[in-house]
Amino acid sequence: MSSRLIVVSNRVAAPDPGNRHTAGGLAVAVKAAMRNRTGVWFGWSGKINDDPAEEPLVQRCNKVDYAVIDLSEADFQEYYNGLANRVLWPILHYRGDLQEYSRADQTGYMRVNRLFAEKLSELIRDDDVIWVHDYHLMPLARELRARGHGNPIGFFLHIPCAPPDIVQTLPHHEDIFGALTYYDLVGFQTERDRDNFAHYLTPMGATLGRNPMTISVDGRQTRLGAFPVGIETAAFARLSRFSMHSRCVEDVRESLQGRKLVIGVDRLDYSKGILHRINAFDRFLDEHPEWRSKVVFLQITPRSRSDIKEYIAIEDEVTAMVGKINGRYGEADWTPLRYINRPYSRTVLAGLYRLADVALVTPLRDGMNLVAKEFVAAQDRADPGVLVLSEFAGASAELDRALIVNPHESEAVAAALKQALEMPLEERQRRHDPMMDHLLEYDIDHWAEEFLSALGETRHRSGLLESLRGLFAVSLGG
Ligand code: G6P
Repeated sequence: MSSRLIVVSNRVAAPDPGNRHTAGGLAVAVKAAMRNRTGVWFGWSGKINDDPAEEPLVQRCNKVDYAVIDLSEADFQEYYNGLANRVLWPILHYRGDLQEYSRADQTGYMRVNRLFAEKLSELIRDDDVIWVHDYHLMPLARELRARGHGNPIGFFLHIPCAPPDIVQTLPHHEDIFGALTYYDLVGFQTERDRDNFAHYLTPMGATLGRNPMTISVDGRQTRLGAFPVGIETAAFARLSRFSMHSRCVEDVRESLQGRKLVIGVDRLDYSKGILHRINAFDRFLDEHPEWRSKVVFLQITPRSRSDIKEYIAIEDEVTAMVGKINGRYGEADWTPLRYINRPYSRTVLAGLYRLADVALVTPLRDGMNLVAKEFVAAQDRADPGVLVLSEFAGASAELDRALIVNPHESEAVAAALKQALEMPLEERQRRHDPMMDHLLEYDIDHWAEEFLSALGETRHRSGLLESLRGLFAVSLGG
């Protein structure tokens, strides 16, 4: 019998094809990586329930068991809103100053990691390969090892890893970040993230090995690697061609009345640089009056983590700024900035990306940013749009033919926007073609294969090698 892949993440993307709404990068990537595999996807149901069922709720779809558990109100507040999103999220995005640490939240975070381990433990078979995702679940391998599971376990961090000085601002950081040494493989989006983590561990007594990079702590060996996450490039390109002709995208096209379209798509999050971007658009309209009435900036921003103070504040600030710009420059027949909080389906987004002339992807810090990759994949090679990309998005290491900007410099972003809007066809193609070729080669399947084969190389016990061989047989044959 072939072995299975067990994926564990806080969020589990619902298996039903009617799942229309945009998900964060993680859910999109993992869903694609699971598509041709046999296994289990385990995580939180997204529901809060103070009397949760003993057993996970399991739903099978295309060879994958989606197994989910509810969380109690205290779990949700302390683990998800608390340590994960009020502490680890800002710290790992280089905003140690925004963390709101409490011991109760750390206790809740550890408790939910134990709960995940307990519930998952019952589902694990000896030859399963386990792949844990993101900052919510850093201590999970230690909990699984404590329950006697010797399976290969890998971890992938979808968000950035800040340098040691910032990570060390977390009280008791060793307990959480040190727990990553219980994995066989820890993967990051970029080499910079991987190196930040290695530099964090070495002064704490870890021994560093090179080629491949490994760290040894207390007799445990963990391989570290950079695995830039990809997208389903070919499928997304097809989707964008088809979606261009959907009613919704046609309506947007008509509403533009021949104006150029600039697009931004981000969860409402302070790491995304939305305010900085809107400021840059303000500067652009101010400095280039010839462009007024000729361009529309569509910013799609689904709300996120709305219980958290910083997220409420950013929403208020963005809304005020949008009103100011539309009031200052708008005409009776032209709204410069269309700001929308509702989420759109991936299908509609794919069409809007293809329709757009420019995408502004200007986060202040981002693990990868799959919007940048999806925008490139959605373009018509014969007449591609232009990507303006922050140097602080992980994607900038690969998409180096984009117009790369520092999002903190509104002059530079405004100038890049003008350059993008006025860029001749030949230059647009010269920039787009190699990026598209890169995305076709380094797609989501490549990412999953690379990670899982590196995980396989970390173990030489014959039974485990057999497990990984079985996994590849499944993934290649699927
Ligand atoms: C990022 C994180 C994911 C997270 C997603 C959405 O992509 O890497 O782990 O799921 O944001 O955030 P949420 O808090 O809604 O899950």
